[in-house]
Amino acid sequence: MQEMISADGIHVPAAVLARGTGAMTAAERYGVLPMPSLAWTPEVEAATAHLYAKVSHVIPAIEWPFYAPYIKAINDLKKQRNAVILAHNYMTPEIYHCVADVVGDSLQLAKEATRADADIIIQGGVHFMAETSKILNPDKTVLIPDSRAGCSLAASITGDDIKLLRRRYPGVPIVAYVNTSADVKAEVDICCTSSNAVKVVESFGVDRVIMVPDQYLARWVASQTKIRIIAWKGACEVHERFTGDELNRYRLDDPSVSIIAHPECPPDVIAAADFTGSTAHMIKWVKDHKPKRLVMITECSMADNVASEVQGTEMIRPCNLCPHMKRISLPKILDSLVYMKDEVVVDPAVAARAVGSVQRMIDLKI
Ligand code: 13P
Ligand code: SF4
Repeated sequence: MQEMISADGIHVPAAVLARGTGAMTAAERYGVLPMPSLAWTPEVEAATAHLYAKVSHVIPAIEWPFYAPYIKAINDLKKQRNAVILAHNYMTPEIYHCVADVVGDSLQLAKEATRADADIIIQGGVHFMAETSKILNPDKTVLIPDSRAGCSLAASITGDDIKLLRRRYPGVPIVAYVNTSADVKAEVDICCTSSNAVKVVESFGVDRVIMVPDQYLARWVASQTKIRIIAWKGACEVHERFTGDELNRYRLDDPSVSIIAHPECPPDVIAAADFTGSTAHMIKWVKDHKPKRLVMITECSMADNVASEVQGTEMIRPCNLCPHMKRISLPKILDSLVYMKDEVVVDPAVAARAVGSVQRMIDLKI
């Protein structure tokens, strides 16, 4: 078989033609670019100085010459590839402040994915977030810099489990946290995030709702509404490690300290906190209240990212790292742009069913 040049000028190897162009990988569709120079030069220093100002509180000056060449290369290649980076609030500061186009919690990222005006979406986050972007943008190329970036909640339940729940509780609506696979999203009635979970549950106007997979988010929602919640037994491996005793010790040390927690935490942690909310709601709370001393009970990078935006708040960091989020790094983002990997692929039949539950959540506009 002959090699050919496609209409958009991309060289299509004979082996790909033999498979059929529908099966082309992203690298075959877009081509691989040369790896840019990663030297620390006066030009790199000048081009990134305004970005260093945003992260100088957490990145020592001696380390900047390592980060800056990656940041410049990524920002240049984003333009060349017509790509956007959607980054979750748990991305490290050099990603969050220096290469991301959009930052936010799961809900904001899902909404922004529908507005993305680019050919390529690079997800700075975990796999379920990239899948959600792909489900909402079936015609765009969605890349995740490390496809092993999973989530203990998403791993705790399958589409078949939802089918069993349907048989066990006929007629009871099923709400899935977005921290689930496309297979699960395809089987449920609607999705929710920790920003809108209470309102999503109440949107059905019934007295019983099933919530999967986070038992702690479900318990927190149950404490905020009269609706009976039937919960799955999943948990976030990062947030379930916090304890109420730990929080009480911070209060004993300094009774004036403010403590805010994510709803994926166990109930004794939430009971000991001054405020509970999604990552975006936590950031808003800090900006609104400007506490003097603050403990953020969530993933470590959040406090680093918020610290540069809120002056006058001393962050006490009893945080836990999410090993999945931390798989995403500047070198891997650069590899994504150069080699067009790892492409997120969702079976179109599954995506066509899953999009309904995500879109119903977005359409509630809450
Ligand atoms: P948010 O939607 O609050 O950003 O939470 C996502 C997540 O994975 C928290 O662990
Ligand atoms: Fe999943 Fe927890 Fe990591 Fe969030 S912090 S991605 S819920 S494991």
